[in-house]
Amino acid sequence: MSSSPQDQVRRVETAFSRIVGHPPTGVWSAPGRVNLIGEHTDYNAGLCLPIALPHRTYAAAAGRDDGLLSVTSLAEGLGGSPTVVPVADISPENPGGWAGYVAGMVWALREQGYAVGGLDIVLTSSVPIGAGLSSSAALSCSVGAAVSGVYSLDLLDHEEARKVLVRAAIRAENDIVGAPTGGMDQTVALLAQERHALRLDFRSDEVTPVPLDLEAAGLALLVCDTRASHVLADGQYAERRATCERAASVLGVSSLREVLPDELPGSLARLDEVSARRVRHVVTENARVEACVEALVREDFGEVGELFVESHASLRDDYEVSCPELDAVVAEALAAGALGARMTGGGFGGSAIALLLRGLVDAATSAIEVRFEREGWRAPECFAVTPAGGAYRDL
Ligand code: GLA
Repeated sequence: MSSSPQDQVRRVETAFSRIVGHPPTGVWSAPGRVNLIGEHTDYNAGLCLPIALPHRTYAAAAGRDDGLLSVTSLAEGLGGSPTVVPVADISPENPGGWAGYVAGMVWALREQGYAVGGLDIVLTSSVPIGAGLSSSAALSCSVGAAVSGVYSLDLLDHEEARKVLVRAAIRAENDIVGAPTGGMDQTVALLAQERHALRLDFRSDEVTPVPLDLEAAGLALLVCDTRASHVLADGQYAERRATCERAASVLGVSSLREVLPDELPGSLARLDEVSARRVRHVVTENARVEACVEALVREDFGEVGELFVESHASLRDDYEVSCPELDAVVAEALAAGALGARMTGGGFGGSAIALLLRGLVDAATSAIEVRFEREGWRAPECFAVTPAGGAYRDL
């Protein structure tokens, strides 16, 4: 991370005063995430186990009484000049691009009946963009927290209230930005707890913190942003989701969560070859999440590592969302002695994670860097992380 949370808060507060002409009402932030295990399961009413990253997006905000939403990002390459739209005119095309996540949040809360008017919002972020670490949910959820604070909606007060923001952030992404993602990223951005992973159940909507004290176990979780982005990623995600929904309907179930591991062979026999592999991934991945939660409770990190490796193979071979760069991070981390490694997030580029003894972090990182250089790929960005907290008010 380039600077401390305090520096980020001060930076966005100062920039707000300069751009808007008066200080903000407050500054709110929300984190990026990595998923430990449970990939492409959220939109199948399944299970996943993400943690929040220490990297956060910070939103300085104040109300304005002319009904306009004015958003400025301090992130490099995003212009630095405000995007302005009347809150009453927010729609899928207006505004486009990254500002859709901000406006979409305002739109979704208004759709849910909350009295939200105009706002000035200035943003900064330490979440790497395009790294598969959910900079988009960090953005929409920091804005949701800010809107709640400015308009006294009290939506950070307790879990049920935070779930209102989760639902709004999902609608913002699905309906305004137009990305058909599940709810993992938004849920962890709003409900994460420090030193815990979150077991998310998208059938029952249950959120269960699972203690994860890696330091006490002498371990580290290494995140490697491959900095590879493969075209077609968006279309492929939507295609995977549609295949799962079609398969559920062929099998006569409301979601793939209803397909039990014991019944898998019979269910797969009723599907075409590709759908069968997609379904096998989803059903076995749900089982791996359960096994991983149990292993974490027993502090059996060897078993956690094995589950990571199985998850990666399933995503690579059955779900077909990995890529050579992700496979290389996993192979190099394992060769350097990691207990386990896997791609994390949607895939087709983005990041992979490795669980390893703290003393092996440097060796694993240089093995990965050397491999990328040899392959002629862009240099990856590797860093160790510990589980951080969800959205809160910073100032
Ligand atoms: C992306 C989506 C999530 C989830 C993952 C895959 O990160 O935003 O909802 O589907 O991919 O697990």
